[in-house]
Amino acid sequence: MDKIVSLCRRRGFVFPSSEIYGGLGSTYDYGHYGVLAKNNIRSLWFQAMVQERDDMVALDSAIILNPRVWEASGHVSGFTDPLVDCRTCKLRFRADDLEHAQCGRKPSKHPGEHTECDLTEARQFNLMFQTHVGALEGEGSLAYLRPETAQGIFINFKNVLQIARRKPPFGIAQIGKSFRNEITPGNFLFRVREFEQMEMEFFVPPDEADHWYRYWIDERMSWYLRYGLRESRLRVREHGEEERSHYSRATSDIEYLYPIGWSELEGVANRGDYDLTQHTEHSGTKLEYVGEGGVRYTPWVIEPAVSIERILVALLVDAYDEEVVADRERTVLRLHPAIAPVKAAILPLIGKNDEMVARAKALQAELRKRHIVEYDDGGAIGRRYRRQDEIGTPFAFTIDEQTLEDDTVTVRDRDSLAQERLPLAGVPDWLGDALELPWKTPKGG
Ligand code: GAP
Repeated sequence: MDKIVSLCRRRGFVFPSSEIYGGLGSTYDYGHYGVLAKNNIRSLWFQAMVQERDDMVALDSAIILNPRVWEASGHVSGFTDPLVDCRTCKLRFRADDLEHAQCGRKPSKHPGEHTECDLTEARQFNLMFQTHVGALEGEGSLAYLRPETAQGIFINFKNVLQIARRKPPFGIAQIGKSFRNEITPGNFLFRVREFEQMEMEFFVPPDEADHWYRYWIDERMSWYLRYGLRESRLRVREHGEEERSHYSRATSDIEYLYPIGWSELEGVANRGDYDLTQHTEHSGTKLEYVGEGGVRYTPWVIEPAVSIERILVALLVDAYDEEVVADRERTVLRLHPAIAPVKAAILPLIGKNDEMVARAKALQAELRKRHIVEYDDGGAIGRRYRRQDEIGTPFAFTIDEQTLEDDTVTVRDRDSLAQERLPLAGVPDWLGDALELPWKTPKGG
């Protein structure tokens, strides 16, 4: 994980937030390549969940909702972690995870194991960030930053049913920021206080719920495999009854083998009719499906939920590689081309040769109409290749002396390092085709 954090910092994927003021615990800002990679993850999720399907619509609900939403959902009373403070070292720990926490005293021990440790009783700590709406601060103005995007979907169920004229089974998909005042954030982007969730609520007839629950676990697993995560690093773990949330009839985590061990990448839950029933009771608006011939029922909900941050960390960890090529070490991100922030580099072999520069700039102008590409004429060609390897650029086109004679360029493959010559005029189509080809990581299963 340290290597990933350092690469992200060095190459401007991710910066600690508010750094010039000393930072703010576990919040991050995304630089150019981070933004590009996140955009790719977001749009590939949207493509699979909405664009390629007939049974899905999109939604973008507000971050600050009527606070009664969170009373109905159970978040005001139950979205808590048990917390203990140490009166000696002033650190705060999750009471249910002391075996993974470090006491502030040396030598390193778990909280409660040093003789000076003085832990308080556990108390429940609500993870929702509070704010106030309007000029007055008081009971009546209290509101919350949403801790999940899901509730924005449930409260719009009736709108979608009527206006989009949908009938179960159908889904509503949403991408947006969620906020949680995590007690023990950390492990880089894995557990942060502000993150971007991609959630989909799939409304189904109750007797089809189990079928769709299994269906969505399989769909989401195949999405990860499609974008290059190694199968040996992915697994599905079904929650035991004691582990499940209050709303859940069944939950499975798609886990990835992060450097911190097997951990939740995405959760797929069968939420039953909990949410629609709760909002019906609290709002007085009936959230049910009424069909032909007097059919009337509250749909059950299957929910795949994930954050872009957890996907990004998994993809970076999976892609990171170091190897020695011709006695020189290179760091390479073997990212799926669809995920790679930059799709191709355009490199004039000699940065001071006007003709090469002109050809390279013309190629860049052509390619950037369809793809994110990068022009680079700074330094030795080997160093330029390595700069692109480090950010995962799958292809590099080099304009050299031969280009000036016969209008061909060299294309270099990031993973195999193979080079071939192509007609300059054919590069846009070649790149378009190459980016569409199925891709498998050369790191193996
Ligand atoms: N609507 C259900 C829900 O929010 P969750 O398991 O609490 O369920 C869903 O969160 C997903 O959101 C997780 O699988 C994870 O991918 C992501 N997530 C949750 N908390 C996160 C955090 N603090 N930082 C980054 N991602 C987080």
